[in-house]
Amino acid sequence: SPVAAFVAALPKVELHLHLVGSASLDTVLALAHHHPDGGVPTEREALRRFYAFTDFPHFLNVYHRVNLLVTTAADVVTLLDGLAGELAARTVRYAEVQVTAVRNRMAGIAYPELAAALTDGRALARERHGVELGWIFDADATLGPEGAEETVDFALGYRPEGTVGIGLGGPEVGVRRADFAPAFDRARAAGLHSVPHAGETVGPDEVWAAVTALRAERIGHGIGAAADPRLLDHLAEHRVPLEVSPTSNLRTGAVTAIEEHPLPVLRAAGVPVTLATDDPGMFHTDLNAEYQLCHDVFGMTVPELAEIARDGARAAFCAPDLRERIL
Ligand code: ADE
Ligand code: ZN
Repeated sequence: SPVAAFVAALPKVELHLHLVGSASLDTVLALAHHHPDGGVPTEREALRRFYAFTDFPHFLNVYHRVNLLVTTAADVVTLLDGLAGELAARTVRYAEVQVTAVRNRMAGIAYPELAAALTDGRALARERHGVELGWIFDADATLGPEGAEETVDFALGYRPEGTVGIGLGGPEVGVRRADFAPAFDRARAAGLHSVPHAGETVGPDEVWAAVTALRAERIGHGIGAAADPRLLDHLAEHRVPLEVSPTSNLRTGAVTAIEEHPLPVLRAAGVPVTLATDDPGMFHTDLNAEYQLCHDVFGMTVPELAEIARDGARAAFCAPDLRERIL
């Protein structure tokens, strides 16, 4: 179709995807073979079924199990090589990758090796695939404020080339964004951007907390904001972009039907929206599919899709010359 051809040729950025969640089925199958006791299927069809999530906590549980298969620096480089290849195939020129460094450390990768693997993988992405990568080190809310402090220690202590931000993922139910303010303050004081997830599975309160307590410059998901017109005005006025991942939200149960996804509400309120895949390997999606979905489900036109791509480029923490080339 003309829309598919347009999207396939459109230069894009992707601002929200997780390193481990980006691993292809083939990559995860290979890792599962290396760790047969890891509880992750070693057969393709079984792995597909393993990725059928009953709800958001179930998704996080599966995510952590796959994370534990990534045990070496070489695994990290393999993930980045595969990811950069997938991005290049979708004409993504720049991506910000969320790396949950504390979880990688818990899986057995020492911090110096992790930092070196990210640097090697980033060079490889550029040289082999023509894709520029940036890093967002995301704390896992499950590990509490101490985990966030350790995340900031890693980010500031090693600061691998391409480091742009500090993030916060994991659950929102029973964990308050505001509790992570000290770690975010420290990261921001050292020049990192604040890019937490908020309002993925809960309502506007946590998005407000991300904006006020964590000084979020962009927000992962943020779809819970749709219920609060005053918050939508705030995000629009202060130009705080939301990284929206419709397929992710459907697969994790964050929305119950794709037609009910609030993306059109967010855009109608003037909030900058960028499209992202979140965990493309686990949600069976890619960035072009997210653009196509916006056309198919929400009736977005080619000029509107181009505007989404431009909003993404403006929201990227990349070098200005790269941004200009994408815009
Ligand atoms: N970690 C990986 N994907 C995530 C998501 N969608 N929300 C929160 N934490 C995550
Ligand atoms: Zn995410």
